Amino acid sequence: MATVEDRLSEMIAAAESARARAYAPYSGFAVGAALAFEDGGVVAGANVENASYGLSLCAEAVAVARAMNEGRRGGLLAVAVAGPGAGDGTVMPCGRCRQMLSEMAQLGGTDPLVWSGEGQAAVETRLSALLPLAFGPDSLNP
Ligand code: THU
Repeated sequence: MATVEDRLSEMIAAAESARARAYAPYSGFAVGAALAFEDGGVVAGANVENASYGLSLCAEAVAVARAMNEGRRGGLLAVAVAGPGAGDGTVMPCGRCRQMLSEMAQLGGTDPLVWSGEGQAAVETRLSALLPLAFGPDSLNP
């Protein structure tokens, strides 16, 4: 069984491939995200902007929504994000996306790895480091 680190190159490729399908005509900032699951599945998404700018969806939010609509509830092992400057720059999930990723992670009790960038500039961290003391499904049942 491949470790999640072994899947990094596959995930970056999936994130880059999704990124190519971003709809980002207003910012020009195309982002792709790939989610890796315990069953070996990978679900990717890219940002979708709107002429009413505030309605824009981030790549990570699209990927989470796609995974939820596939019926996935938890099992999230890792997240790879690809953005402009990948290779010498990184894009980390925004606050709203950290919360959305956290819901998927909490449903399965995982603390996913989060990667962005490649080579020396790459960032590898855990979702719990990006969103400590997270609010989640259990918080609604005190
Ligand atoms: N964006 C993402 O898709 N993911 C991130 O992690 C950061 C920002 C998008 C939102 C918007 O379409 C564009 O990047 C510029 O903010």
